[in-house]
Amino acid sequence: MVRIAVIHGPNLNLLGLREPEVYGALTLEQINERMLDLARKENLELRISQSNMEGTIIDSIQDALEWADAIVINPGAYTHTSVAIRDAITAVRLPTVEVHMSNVHRREPFRHHSYVSPVVVGQVVGFGVDSYLLGLIAAKRTVEEMRR
Ligand code: DQA
Repeated sequence: MVRIAVIHGPNLNLLGLREPEVYGALTLEQINERMLDLARKENLELRISQSNMEGTIIDSIQDALEWADAIVINPGAYTHTSVAIRDAITAVRLPTVEVHMSNVHRREPFRHHSYVSPVVVGQVVGFGVDSYLLGLIAAKRTVEEMRR
């Protein structure tokens, strides 16, 4: 069993409604269902949270220290602004996978820089809902490798 904290950042609660041409038509609830389906097959325990607030996201990262083996996080726009979220990831030392539904590197220049990417194991970008599913598999493999 691998325990993973899945953390969604700001505006991701509006998926489905928000720029479907960029992020697709699935709602956050449907994306979470897909992740829970995969979790059943892959023997993962997931705790999924979403917040529009930077401090709450930091709390979720810190709380993960109590129970999780890894973090999968889409920090949304905070990716490009938040030293505090980066510091939280560094502080807890849990292997973390950064995911983005869109290919941020094909978009506006301000989305090309991530404060988070230097402190994560890796990034999955540009695959829509599959970014999350691939991110879960990457987190699982990382934890299994660490346990060996
Ligand atoms: C995003 C990309 C960010 O630039 C943007 O601010 C988001 C979503 C993505 O999943 O593609 O909110 O993280």
